[in-house]
Amino acid sequence: MSNKSAGLAGVVAGQSAIATVGTGQGLNYRGYSIDDLAMHASFEEVAYLLIYNKLPTRAELTAYIAKLVSLRTLPSELKSVLRLIPPTTHPMDILRTGCSMLGTLEPELDFTQQFAIADRLLAILPGMLCYWYLYNFADKEISGLSDEATIAGHFLALLHSRKPDKLQRDMLDVSLILYAEHEFNASTFAARVTAATLSDFYSAITSAIGTLRGPLHGGANEAAMELIAACITPDDAEREVMQRLAMKNKIMGFGHRVYKTCDPRSNIIKAWSKKLGVAQSAESLYTISERIEAVMWREKKLFPNLDFYSASAYHYCGIPTALFTPIFVMSRVTGWAAHVIEQRADNRLIRPDAEYIGPDPRKYVAIDNR
Ligand code: COA
Repeated sequence: MSNKSAGLAGVVAGQSAIATVGTGQGLNYRGYSIDDLAMHASFEEVAYLLIYNKLPTRAELTAYIAKLVSLRTLPSELKSVLRLIPPTTHPMDILRTGCSMLGTLEPELDFTQQFAIADRLLAILPGMLCYWYLYNFADKEISGLSDEATIAGHFLALLHSRKPDKLQRDMLDVSLILYAEHEFNASTFAARVTAATLSDFYSAITSAIGTLRGPLHGGANEAAMELIAACITPDDAEREVMQRLAMKNKIMGFGHRVYKTCDPRSNIIKAWSKKLGVAQSAESLYTISERIEAVMWREKKLFPNLDFYSASAYHYCGIPTALFTPIFVMSRVTGWAAHVIEQRADNRLIRPDAEYIGPDPRKYVAIDNR
């Protein structure tokens, strides 16, 4: 064996009817192309597609949105726990802990509850995040409810305590669609491994949140923003990237395990980033990002993944950088839910082998003789 399957690259680890990625068919959710979904659908429509395995009719979508709105209430015990979490905590840990806590308050007693729990998590995550964030950084305790029907609008309304700008809300809606599902990525695989032990739904999602947190996965959008924000001009950006590459550092937001020439989601979010920059007459963040893209292609033939232009797009919406990866959770919970449901429908424990590379069998040496 050896390094060939390091990181399970290229290994088919199971079957799934949820998404195609990479070369061949491109990125599709249940057969629908990401371009069509990003152009024509709403995030709630995509959530329904992923969780319930069909596109909703207009009546079903209206009912689904109303249901999600009705599921936003934060239990008082959850709020008490959120208030105890220190302000120095990374917001991903808020969602990880909040999800786990909800699992103690509204436990999954049997698997028939899985759709209801998926909807509850989807509905409650924005309020959970904003409750903790505003309690610590704006000195206010919010209800976690808003007048906005969509998840994108709801999150922005809670975060900024005002009606969201339409362009920003529309961008975030598209972004949630783009982040919703991506086959056997690390966090989804973690969710499936947990689900395959017949553990509960919350444990699977908690595992996934912890896995998404790392900078090689979801955390890349925050790291990309840190680089962009550190540069004042495109020339600065070029110097900074060249320096980092010379030191063999990775530039976060570039490259991908399954895509080799481009990430089909990147141009969609890039166009939104540009639109927001132009609307705000604040294009420098965008032009700096474009220069980084050009340098990475020239030097390494590496292309931006979804995380790279999401960084500037989110920044244009006044979203604090530390909340970028939690937004990924607010979206990907739909894909994770679809995978947990699919795993359970035809379950087998996921337990691969390891190639042993440790010492040969040897004699135990008593502690006083070592
Ligand atoms: N910046 C600089 N070099 C990069 C790079 C990046 N973002 N991504 C990959 N490379 C280089 C590696 O250094 C390595 O070079 P080497 O062969 O000279 O050692 C080569 O490309 C292969 O990279 P590797 O990390 O082994 O590929 P992978 O398939 O295991 O990893 C990622 C894929 C996504 C983890 C990787 O591209 C990466 O770390 N990107 C940055 C993090 C990121 O944006 N993650 C979000 C993914 S959606």
